[in-house]
Amino acid sequence: MQIAIDGPAGSGKSTIAKIVANRLGFIYCDTGAMYRTATVMALRLGLKLDDEAAIMAHLKPLAITFKPTPEGQQVFMDGEEVTLAIREPETTNNVSQVAALPAVRAEMVQRQRDIAATHDIVMDGRDIGTTVLPDAEVKIFMVASVKARAQRRHEENVAKGIMTSVATLEQEIATRDHKDATRAVSPLQKAPDAIEIDSTNMTIAQEVDEILQLVATKI
Ligand code: C5P
Repeated sequence: MQIAIDGPAGSGKSTIAKIVANRLGFIYCDTGAMYRTATVMALRLGLKLDDEAAIMAHLKPLAITFKPTPEGQQVFMDGEEVTLAIREPETTNNVSQVAALPAVRAEMVQRQRDIAATHDIVMDGRDIGTTVLPDAEVKIFMVASVKARAQRRHEENVAKGIMTSVATLEQEIATRDHKDATRAVSPLQKAPDAIEIDSTNMTIAQEVDEILQLVATKI
């Protein structure tokens, strides 16, 4: 079974996707972490972020792997742990540019489909229901107000020791939403058959229950 969870930055997708995957015994795939890892690679190598050929030359052989942990997952780039590096503001503020490159998207979509081919999966991102897994049995599109999303990101960052102001985060989230929703290839978009969940005033438990109820109707 495939469960696709899409939505804008900070809508709570990954928190919910991890819990749902755990409850169902499915694997979880955080596609944003894959684009973030590609961005860390490009920044470290000093590549121009619009130089698709150079980025692809280094991305093709790059191993991006995940290891589940009780709190979530660790992310590795060619064996080096980058779990924290991919959440740094510099990565966050540049990832949409890298993710807009058509060849990068084609590579990531292929890798994501390969992972989904052999497992029951919960996958979260921006284009899972529309492009990566168009036949997913359950498609969710999660939304929340920019204010609520900035507040959540702030709390996550504080917990990780990353200091940012809520006002700055609001601005950054709005900018990233705009870039993700207006890019030419696979923009952030609700699939016609996705169920929209507005999490602004919902608890995590309520969101998880709503999704598990939807899943139950498909089993
Ligand atoms: O989900 P997260 O905020 O970690 O995603 C980081 C960025 O990766 C997004 O802002 C978007 O630019 C890109 N992304 C994407 N397609 C996906 C997942 C993430 O373009 N499926």
